[in-house]
Amino acid sequence: MYESFFKLSKKPFELVPDPEFIYLSGSHKKALTYLDYGIRERAGFILLTGEVGSGKTTLIRNLLKKKYERVVLAKVFNTRVNFEQLLSMINDDFGLPVSGKGKVALLHDLNEFLVQQFAAGNQPILIIDEAQNLDVDLLEEVRMLSNLESSQSKLLQIVLVGQPELRQTLATPGLLQLRQRISINCHLTALKREELPQYIEHRMRVAGNACALEFTEETLDLLYCYSRGIPRLINTIADLALLTGAPRGPGPISANVVRQAARLLGHPVAHGQQPASRRTRPVGRPVWPRSADRGAGRRCTFR
Ligand SMILES: Nc1ncnc2c1ncn2[C@@H]1O[C@H](COP(=O)(O)OP(=O)(O)O)[C@@H](O)[C@H]1O
Ligand SMILES: [Mg+2]
Repeated sequence: MYESFFKLSKKPFELVPDPEFIYLSGSHKKALTYLDYGIRERAGFILLTGEVGSGKTTLIRNLLKKKYERVVLAKVFNTRVNFEQLLSMINDDFGLPVSGKGKVALLHDLNEFLVQQFAAGNQPILIIDEAQNLDVDLLEEVRMLSNLESSQSKLLQIVLVGQPELRQTLATPGLLQLRQRISINCHLTALKREELPQYIEHRMRVAGNACALEFTEETLDLLYCYSRGIPRLINTIADLALLTGAPRGPGPISANVVRQAARLLGHPVAHGQQPASRRTRPVGRPVWPRSADRGAGRRCTFR
């Protein structure tokens, strides 16, 4: 709707985990490096956690865009299931027939498939997204899958992706063996304040016009306050701010527009924004941290 006004070829702040839009913040870059290493080195279990909306699925999709020559992949995104259903989804994604098969038959098929893949020199990987929904028993059964092995090697590498609650579940005593097998362990943190303008500029560049928006210092501080640096929240607020900002004509997106967008999305009202500089700047130019200002913009209160 506002794309033509801002000369954008597509919407810059959609909520789909489109890897084309990925901005590599410090935390995303580090996680990507570790995950890539884990796959290349055939690490046992790989664990990736992060708050909802922090970019886990986007990062995994970006990772899978890399060409790993021998990787054969199964991805599971629906985890409100029992073990048999989980197995069925795994086998289905590996391209195995699943119709009418029970747990024993599914396990048998999976084992045979993995042995064949191993013989062919391939590297089967299972990615379970939203793994925070798996309970202790299901996680233990998933661990057993990674025990399928040939005489020389484990047959299946497993990547667990989930919200921070997954770590709490993994900390239970019954999952000690699984814990001990995690060799790559990453946690995605929110964007830092100084990464926010880079993130916005990056997404707008991918959407066709890096210079579409200008923000005041105050607006960026406010956007950071509302979103806490979580990309999904940044996107929802920024999208609505563009929508309400467009009819007001050219010029920087004002703090009021952001405040209004956040309010419409159900965020509490933020007060006490500092610094209240009205100076505008292109979003890409770093402004944070300056020692005198450090943390100042984050000192907002909500009501
Ligand atoms: N590093 C990033 N670069 C660009 N966009 C991101 C990044 N991280 C998250 N996003 C965006 O935020 C939204 C939520 O990301 P998503 O991967 O679904 O989060 P999660 O899986 O952790 O809940 C998506 O629109 C996604 O494109
Ligand atoms: Mg996700």
